[in-house]
Amino acid sequence: KMARKKLVAGNWKMNGNFDANEGLILGFLAEVDEQVDVSVFCPFPYLAQVGKLLEGQQVAFGSQDVSAKASGAYTGEVSVDMLNEFGVTQVLVGHSERRQYHAESSVTVAEKAVAAISGGITPIVCVGETLAEREAGRVEEVIADQLDPVVEQCAKFIENGVWNLVIAYEPVWAIGTGVTASPEQAQEVHAMIRARLNAMLGAEVAQSTRILYGGSVKPGNASEIFAKEDIDGGLIGGAALSSDDFSGIIRAAR
Ligand code: G3P
Repeated sequence: KMARKKLVAGNWKMNGNFDANEGLILGFLAEVDEQVDVSVFCPFPYLAQVGKLLEGQQVAFGSQDVSAKASGAYTGEVSVDMLNEFGVTQVLVGHSERRQYHAESSVTVAEKAVAAISGGITPIVCVGETLAEREAGRVEEVIADQLDPVVEQCAKFIENGVWNLVIAYEPVWAIGTGVTASPEQAQEVHAMIRARLNAMLGAEVAQSTRILYGGSVKPGNASEIFAKEDIDGGLIGGAALSSDDFSGIIRAAR
């Protein structure tokens, strides 16, 4: 297995408050060491608090979205420069909930990824099919439609076979449902994504890019998912809100 360091990322979604955030972070910090990369994605208003709690810690943090625009008349948007002021180093883009409830297109997602990388922030670009799309045999086509604009627009940032970009495969039918993709089902799509990166960008980029799995990952199923060849960690929703569960998932990634 290629030596890609595992990344366990917690997506808090629209959850938390000052007390809960502090308890959560203090609760899993002891589990963090050099063997596994860990990051958390909090709602915008908590970036300052989370940044302070994580000062001097080996945990990255960021927001769950970012604007593709640099500044100006975009009510409600938050720019990459603003995130940088808080010490953000990673950001989620194109989460299925953004695509679904905020009509984000794959082109918009690609523009957000470009904005993030340009500002020195690593985008975690989320892709994934719905159940209807899977049942119609359209997984590969859907993932390609989501991935290709990102690859095309971000290829210019590749240096020495490396880019600051992480991909997260999150099948929509496995998010928050308690139904995980089987490790084999997940591996199949991860391998397909890596093959596509290989075809479009070459072996070096394909082999160095981390591809996370997301969708009902829990301490009990994480090890067998993370053991798969092309799965380089997880993007965790519900289980990232419990320090015990999140700790268990970090342990499973070692
Ligand atoms: O981004 C993480 C995600 O959508 C998975 O959520 O609750 O199924 O782990 P969950």
